[in-house]
Amino acid sequence: MTGRRTLSVCVVGCEIQDADSLGENLERMGYPAFTTASPQEALERIGSGQNRVVLAEMGLDGMQGLEFLERALQIDPGAYVILLGHSKPIEEAVAAIKQGAYDFLTRPIDWLRLERTLERLGEEFGRRANIRDLEDRLLSHLEFHGIVGRSPAIIDVFERVQKIARHFRNVLVVGPTGSGKELVAWALHKLSPVAAQRFAVCNCSALVDTLLESQLFGHVRGAFTGATDTRAGLFEYANGGTVFLDEIGEMSLGMQSKLLRVIENREIQRVGSPEVRQVDVRLIAATNRELRSEVMAGRFREDLFYRLSTLEIRVPSLVERIEDVLLLVQFFLKKYNQAYGKTIRGLTRRAQAVLLRYHWPGNVRELENVISSACLTTESNFVDIADLPPHLQNPHPAALELDDTWRPVSLEEVRRQHIARVLDFCAGNRVRAAQILGIGRTSLYRHFQREARLKGKQQGKH
Ligand SMILES: Nc1ncnc2c1ncn2[C@@H]1O[C@H](COP(=O)(O)OP(=O)(O)OP(=O)(O)O)[C@@H](O)[C@H]1O
Ligand SMILES: [Mg+2]
Repeated sequence: MTGRRTLSVCVVGCEIQDADSLGENLERMGYPAFTTASPQEALERIGSGQNRVVLAEMGLDGMQGLEFLERALQIDPGAYVILLGHSKPIEEAVAAIKQGAYDFLTRPIDWLRLERTLERLGEEFGRRANIRDLEDRLLSHLEFHGIVGRSPAIIDVFERVQKIARHFRNVLVVGPTGSGKELVAWALHKLSPVAAQRFAVCNCSALVDTLLESQLFGHVRGAFTGATDTRAGLFEYANGGTVFLDEIGEMSLGMQSKLLRVIENREIQRVGSPEVRQVDVRLIAATNRELRSEVMAGRFREDLFYRLSTLEIRVPSLVERIEDVLLLVQFFLKKYNQAYGKTIRGLTRRAQAVLLRYHWPGNVRELENVISSACLTTESNFVDIADLPPHLQNPHPAALELDDTWRPVSLEEVRRQHIARVLDFCAGNRVRAAQILGIGRTSLYRHFQREARLKGKQQGKH
């Protein structure tokens, strides 16, 4: 029977001898048993996912049976606790079942009944294993060119990518850091008619202007110090395919005008050469900045912004699609199990609850890092709270600090600080900040303009 092989039982007795003799009987029935006289140890095993089925005596050392039941279910609401009473007080049995016990047995033990109960449980476990199996297979269907998700917000992105991929010349992909913009860019390329051609990536924030220009457009020998040979740039390299410009919001105004020329005429000039070359590339640009406000602040060319943003794909933050978290966890567990040669089966329920409560400022990249390091550190088959980073375990230190540093300030000051914190929370994304604050975008811009004016005045005074 499949159930017997997978079902292992933790037996907690008043005395270790009681637990051992119960354990021996269970082993004889074919169920591996772990025995202990410490309710605390049993709770730890439930917490770490080592046991989900527990047979516990009512009058345990230092903890009554019903209290044990309550704590076990707090730790893992999916645990199955079978209680074992000494007499037959019917009220006790009713109370136990009401509180969530799977069954209530009395001494002398009716072994046949216990065996049936465990058999039933075994079947239930088998069913769950089947469901996990199905979910695993489903996972492969919920992956869109490497992007995993099933929330309405991400499905909208998939649909938009599919629609745009065939026809685009320029696309702008926006979204907070770590949300998957590069994956979206890759999917756009893979679904485009030029999928078989090259996909060239350049991170615009990583290079100073002169290097960036030569990286994108190439250079001729002697164009600048160190240019010992003539080289083609990314646009030529990817001719016929796609160029992906990451972090376009960090590009200088000077480079922006050169890029505008490429977009308008599909023409480039290698640095140091007068020759104009035609290139036929599709362009995908990405940024985690709110380019509209960059334009208002004079840091981004308006004409380039309009050129790029005629087609825009907005990748939602992870909190906006929190329903994807557990699916992504499953995906990353599979990936890191393979990478580290482990066989971790999942997360304990309390660890899942922690992940679902967290606000994920670093989005999917942060979740991936959390799962990969938990896979490395955990010694059990289930990742538990202790395997998660400390700031996830205690998620609200900032709120406590705020209380500690409370000062009597004006409402205007509270408003200022609150806006700054929300903006920080949204990694600088003003549109999202305005949504959370429940105010219009223009009100938020007016607030920043007022702030900037005040700052200017204060600096003028000093
Ligand atoms: N939906 C997803 N499914 C699977 N993996 C994802 C998903 N979204 C992001 N990732 C993974 O998270 C990491 C970050 O993704 P990516 O580099 O695409 O984000 P980004 O938006 O470009 O970040 P940044 O703004 O910092 O450049 C990558 O390792 C990527 O594989
Ligand atoms: Mg990126």
